[in-house]
Amino acid sequence: MKRRSLLLAGAFSGLAAATSSCSSEWEGPKSSAFSNRLRIPPLAEPEPAADGAKQFSLDLLAGGRAEILPGLTTRTWGINGPYLGPTVRVNRGDRVRMAVTNRLGEVTTLHWHGMRLPARMDGGPHQTIEPGATWRPEWTIEQPAATTWFHPHLHGTTAMHVYRGLAGLLLIDDPDGPALPSTYGVDDLPLIIQDKRFGADGALNTGDVDGGTFGFLGNRILVNGTFGPFLEVRSELVRFRLLNASNARVYRVGFADGRRFQVIATDAGLLERPVTVERVKISPGERVEIVVRFTAGEEAVLDSRGEDPKRANDIEEEDFTLLKLVAAGALAESAPLPDELGGVPAEPPPTGARRRRFVLTGSEINGNDMDMTRIDEVVPAGAHEIWELDNTTYAHNFHIHEAPFRILDINGTPPPAYQRGPKDTVFIPKNAKVRLAATFGTHIDPLSPYMYHCHILRHEDKGMVGQFVVVRPGTENQVSRKLPQGHHQH
Ligand code: C2O
Ligand code: CU
Ligand code: CU
Repeated sequence: MKRRSLLLAGAFSGLAAATSSCSSEWEGPKSSAFSNRLRIPPLAEPEPAADGAKQFSLDLLAGGRAEILPGLTTRTWGINGPYLGPTVRVNRGDRVRMAVTNRLGEVTTLHWHGMRLPARMDGGPHQTIEPGATWRPEWTIEQPAATTWFHPHLHGTTAMHVYRGLAGLLLIDDPDGPALPSTYGVDDLPLIIQDKRFGADGALNTGDVDGGTFGFLGNRILVNGTFGPFLEVRSELVRFRLLNASNARVYRVGFADGRRFQVIATDAGLLERPVTVERVKISPGERVEIVVRFTAGEEAVLDSRGEDPKRANDIEEEDFTLLKLVAAGALAESAPLPDELGGVPAEPPPTGARRRRFVLTGSEINGNDMDMTRIDEVVPAGAHEIWELDNTTYAHNFHIHEAPFRILDINGTPPPAYQRGPKDTVFIPKNAKVRLAATFGTHIDPLSPYMYHCHILRHEDKGMVGQFVVVRPGTENQVSRKLPQGHHQH
C-alpha cells in the first residue's frame, strides 16, 4: 500500500510508533477470486410492544470468530453476531424502542447516524453504555425514507470499535413513497464497504487505527464482511444501498465495464429524480443508493477507481475490486424506475440565514479539540443556516448529527447532480471550501449536545468534533456554554 500519508504524521505528535505492526501480513490475493457468496446482514426481527412500538434488541459482542479469509479465523466484534450488525428496518411514523446491551467488556456507545431524534437518544459520546448495561433509547421516526446506520461513538475509541466490526444499517421506508426495488436481499441489497489489513494468521491488523495522518488505510476490501464476494442477481433492476463504513478511505464506485447506473438517494433520502452516472464518490459515513440494470446471463464487476492523481487526496487514490455480480439465465421482470422519486427539491436558504464558519486544520475545528464540557454552537430550533467549512489542510469530511443539509457549493461550484440530494456527511477535499445549507431539528435540550465532526475516524477520535445544542428560539444567549463536569445521560 502507499505510505505517503505517513509523511504527514508530524501533524499528530508521537504517533509514528503505532505504524510498525505489519511484520507478518497475510499475503493472499487482493480480492480477484470472487469465490465467497456475499453475506447479507439478516433483518432484525422487531418484538411487538403493547403500545405498538417496534422493539429491537442489539447486543454488542466481542470475541466473534469469523471466517473471512479462506481457512483462517478472524477475531471480530459484532452486533447480534460475529461481525457487523443486523439490518433494522422501520417505517416512517413508527415508534422505535431499542435495547442496546454492551457485552464488550469495555465502555462504548451506539449512535444512530442520520437519525432525527432527541439528543439524549442520539448515542453520541455522552450516552455511554457501561459494560453489562443496557441502554434503552426510544423515538418516533419523523423523517423521509433513507438508508441510515449505527455505530459506536465513544470519544477516543470510535475508530477501533468500528474497525473491529461494530456497525449496522437502519433502513427507513415510507409506505407512501415511490415504487422502488425493495425486497431485502433480493432486489434491495446493502453493500457495506470497509477496508482491512490482515495478519498471516487472519487477525485484523489494528496497527494504524490509532495512528498516522488518516489513521487506518487497508489493503483488502470487505463488503458486508465478505472478502472477494460474488452475488447472484435475479431481477432486471437491483437497488444497492452503499455505505462507506471504512475508517478513512474514500471510494469511487462504478463498474469495470463502464456501464451507467442511476443514483436514487443520498445520505438523508431520495433525490427528486434518478441521476444517471458512471461513478459515485463515497467518503466515510456517507450512503448512496443506486439502481443497476442487468441482462440475463451476464457478469459485471463493481469496483472502485482511484481519483485522478493530479487532484487526488491520499485517501482516494487506490483501485479496488468490490463485488462480482452474476446474473441468472432468466431475470425477474422489474417495474421501471419512476421518473419522480418524491425527493424534495433543495430550497435556497432564506435571506438572512445565519452563517457559521468552521476552519478545519489537521485535527481541529476553529482551533479547538473536542471538549465534552464545551458547547461550541447554540442553534435555535428549526433554524435554516449556512455552514461554511474552510479546510486549510489535507482531506477531511464533515458530518452533522440530526440536521440534514444540502451542499451549496464546493470551491464555489455546485456539486455534481447526484450529490444535490439531502445529506448528512460531505467529503471535503484538501484546501477546499464547502458551503452547506442545513435544516436543524426541533428537539429542544440545552443540556444535551449533538455532534458535528470529521468522519475520518482517526480525526474524530483525535478531537475533530464540536458540540451544538438546539434551544428555544430567542433563548440562545441564556444558554450555558459549559456542561457540568462528568455530565452523562444514560
Ligand atoms: Cu457516524 Cu457522529 O457519526
Ligand atoms: Cu451521526
Ligand atoms: Cu478529518
